[in-house]
Amino acid sequence: MVTGRYHVTTFGCQMNAHDSGRIEGLLESLGYLPAPKRDEADLILFNTCSIREAADSRFVAHLMEARAVKRRRPETVIGVGGCWAQSMKDEIFADYPFVDVAFGPGQAGKLAEFLASDSIGAQGYFEFESFTADLPMKAGQGHHAWVQISVGCNCRCSYCIVPTTRGREVSRSLDELTGEIQDLAARGVVEVTLLGQNVNAWGRDLRPQRSSFSELLSCVDSVEGIERVRYTSPHPKDMREDVIEAHASLPSVCEHIHLPLQSGSSRILKRMRRTYDRSRYMDRVAMIRERVPDCAITTDIIVGFPGETDEDFAETLEVAEEVGFDGAFTFIFSPRRGTEAAEMSDAFVDHDVARKRMDRLLEVVRRRGSERAQRFLGRDLEVMVEGTSREDPARLRGRTRHNRNVYFDGIGAPGDLVEVSITGATSQSLTGEMALAAAAQRLSR
Ligand code: SAH
Ligand code: SF4
Ligand code: F3S
Repeated sequence: MVTGRYHVTTFGCQMNAHDSGRIEGLLESLGYLPAPKRDEADLILFNTCSIREAADSRFVAHLMEARAVKRRRPETVIGVGGCWAQSMKDEIFADYPFVDVAFGPGQAGKLAEFLASDSIGAQGYFEFESFTADLPMKAGQGHHAWVQISVGCNCRCSYCIVPTTRGREVSRSLDELTGEIQDLAARGVVEVTLLGQNVNAWGRDLRPQRSSFSELLSCVDSVEGIERVRYTSPHPKDMREDVIEAHASLPSVCEHIHLPLQSGSSRILKRMRRTYDRSRYMDRVAMIRERVPDCAITTDIIVGFPGETDEDFAETLEVAEEVGFDGAFTFIFSPRRGTEAAEMSDAFVDHDVARKRMDRLLEVVRRRGSERAQRFLGRDLEVMVEGTSREDPARLRGRTRHNRNVYFDGIGAPGDLVEVSITGATSQSLTGEMALAAAAQRLSR
């Protein structure tokens, strides 16, 4: 049995950030304390991602640093969890013999068992066991919390490794979720982000009573103390009217929808197995614009998917122009082990071609993002304070309901809602100042 200090490094998406929080909560409940640096830890953990090749190589470089620590201090325990671990379950101990324990995203709880055992041999845990949300919460949550509403993904997007690393979709029950969010609110949380690989498919697998994502939104909205509700990521195929309507009618549900496009070409969308085409996507956008006119729309786009021609790419550019996304995450296609698209090597797009397409896409994304941002100029927006600006600690940093960062002069503590007059807007962030009267009122309190 090891005791002492732990260090966790997290890669990947918000779900991993959530899972790491629970892993830390578990370790602290077992008496471990956080170590500020990796080489001061008795237990070095990694929560890994495998979404693109770059994620793998970044992580492996860190893992090698941990090996160096273990060479100096052989009693150090090295643990690897998350999606990379799951996708490498058959090779991990042979390829990286210095790893002591490995576990997939649904088995983080097994870490307690491993740490309590006297086993000196390496251990792997890879069968879905439970939600990480069932593990203890860390103390000192702050004003924002991630809430895991489902795990896994039943989609079969041909480029994506997630269905093999996170397994089939399983939803947590409405009662459990409401209970957790009430508990968070009691601890001072005012903003929650609901997490799932495909959040808006939530509830369909629940028995005896199926439920819907819009129903969940309405329950979360009614929790006393929760001022802002966000979620990520929804799938366009499940972006139904009731969900869009929830943004219009529920006060805490923010005016921001992340709607992953992936490609503007229906032909490529079909090869990606996204199950919607360009016109269905545009139809969703039109519905959002009609019901929630000020809603921010952000997206994910993949460039250079196998078989993507100049014409296909031109369609992606057209959609990006037409929609005018508030922001976009853009990726060059990366073949992932075990996926259908990785087998399409005869249609792989030349890397230089993909790079050039990416540059053109970025130009459109930045220009349209910046144009969209201009609508905020001169407006007074509700901003949630998050901290101070890194560049200028005398200024505050916050976020609008549209999920835009704002840097401003004013007074407030993390979690406070303040009104800020917007004086500057770029594709990246807004600047402004708190109304003087409001600031004075705060000071006098
Ligand atoms: N469940 C989420 C996405 C998770 S991955 C969803 O469906 O929206 C986040 C983004 O990474 C994806 O939206 C996609 O744009 C990108 N991505 C996933 N696999 C990829 C691959 N093999 N190559 C390049 N980008 C990829
Ligand atoms: Fe991957 Fe598609 Fe599932 Fe998103 S919806 S996690 S892209 S398989
Ligand atoms: Fe990465 Fe797994 Fe998230 S592959 S993006 S950590 S679901």
